[in-house]
Amino acid sequence: MSLRDDAREVARVILSHHEVTVISHIDADGIAGESILAQALSRAEVPHKSVFVRQLEPLTMRQVPDDDSLKVFCDLGAGQQNLLLERGLSREEVVIIDHHVSQPCGRDYLQANSLLSGHGKLSAAGVAYLVAREMDGGNADLSRLAVVGNVGDMMAREDCGLTGPAREIAIEGAEAGWIEIVPRDLNCYGISTRPLHVCLAYNDDPYIPGISNNAGGALRFLQRLGVELQTPDKRWRVWEEFSPDEKRLVTSSLAQQLIACGEPTDRLFCESYLFPAEAERTPLRNAQEFATLLNACGRWTRPRVGGAICRGDRGEAFREAEHMLSNHRAVIRELLEYILDTGVRELSHIQYIHVGDRYPDTIVGIGAGMALSRLNMDKPILIMVVQPEDTSLTKVSMRTTERVVSRGIDLQQALTVASAEVGGAGGGHRIAAGAYIPRESEDTFVERVNQLIGEQFARPGQGHC
Ligand code: C5P
Repeated sequence: MSLRDDAREVARVILSHHEVTVISHIDADGIAGESILAQALSRAEVPHKSVFVRQLEPLTMRQVPDDDSLKVFCDLGAGQQNLLLERGLSREEVVIIDHHVSQPCGRDYLQANSLLSGHGKLSAAGVAYLVAREMDGGNADLSRLAVVGNVGDMMAREDCGLTGPAREIAIEGAEAGWIEIVPRDLNCYGISTRPLHVCLAYNDDPYIPGISNNAGGALRFLQRLGVELQTPDKRWRVWEEFSPDEKRLVTSSLAQQLIACGEPTDRLFCESYLFPAEAERTPLRNAQEFATLLNACGRWTRPRVGGAICRGDRGEAFREAEHMLSNHRAVIRELLEYILDTGVRELSHIQYIHVGDRYPDTIVGIGAGMALSRLNMDKPILIMVVQPEDTSLTKVSMRTTERVVSRGIDLQQALTVASAEVGGAGGGHRIAAGAYIPRESEDTFVERVNQLIGEQFARPGQGHC
């Protein structure tokens, strides 16, 4: 069966129920996916409620209600089917909308899972959108949220744009007037809200010597080009506001800078996804920044605020989310400084740090990812933190770069194997993965991850660190 067939079957089952509970993940993809499903359910007049969880694990399974509703798992569930089985959930009361590796299970739960259908770059919100479209062809406006989920889950990162069914969804949204697709745009985060020199300085993909991690250098570089960086009333202009000629001048000069340093220029450009109906110079204006706003809500345990924004609230929920976003950034900056000041321990193939209980487990991966561009980018970074609800457990996050992934590294594989060996559980993606492990196994676990990453590097055809 194709993914579309699976989505059609899931839609049929959902519409045949008198009550639905959506259980979704707290990240941007999970929040966007939940909003797609909840809005489709409201429009179909199916009573529903939603539950958000950080991960599906024995502790959070308790949040899944023990009632007659159909349980729709979104952005989770595929990798935890045995938990559903242990909970005694029958095949009739579960559907899974996911894009994670599917766990072998004695019960054949109904899934619309992009990964099972061979689509590695379609997130859960993308699959949720396919289901919503099957529920009602009039749900095309929800394509925006699917694009936010896809971009938020880094589905556009490797190829500098969405591909396959994720791109088809973006095109559908563009044709309906909800999305503006900008080809060969600047591959830089913050094109709608950040002063251009700040935007460039924060960017490390591609890493541009003299500009990346160097706001002063970026500013001088742009001043030398003679482009107007501020408006007449002294407000910094954002990339979106630059004219096509100005954009061409900046990108060709950046390309020259890369070439002069012997670096490839292919990652300088990307396809951007803008939302023309949103207010200019707000994070709602493009898919990347919208996704960060949702992540800020979810990672600070207010996923419903993100959900309200996805449902169209531009008042109180948006103000609250903006507040969370600035707090999110401040804490991540502090964490970044903590990692750099404290220093990481380098093993042969990875580098790692333990931050104790100083930072929330939901954001350490983001901070580690940002620290990587100031550390040895060839070695994946592993960060550990005490899990607040159960201090006998350690939360682990790992991050690496596209370049290292293209050399055969798969963090998800390493963490899944190493955590299972010590009685924990892990998952995620090649470039970003996470796990929970018993606290007393930390040392063995780190050594084992180092060994597994070493084996990945050593496979025939792969480079070495
Ligand atoms: O928590 P963190 O941001 O490090 O998670 C990175 C990725 O790993 C996410 O896609 C998350 O869903 C996944 N993950 C997982 N199992 C865990 C922890 C994280 O699948 N126990």
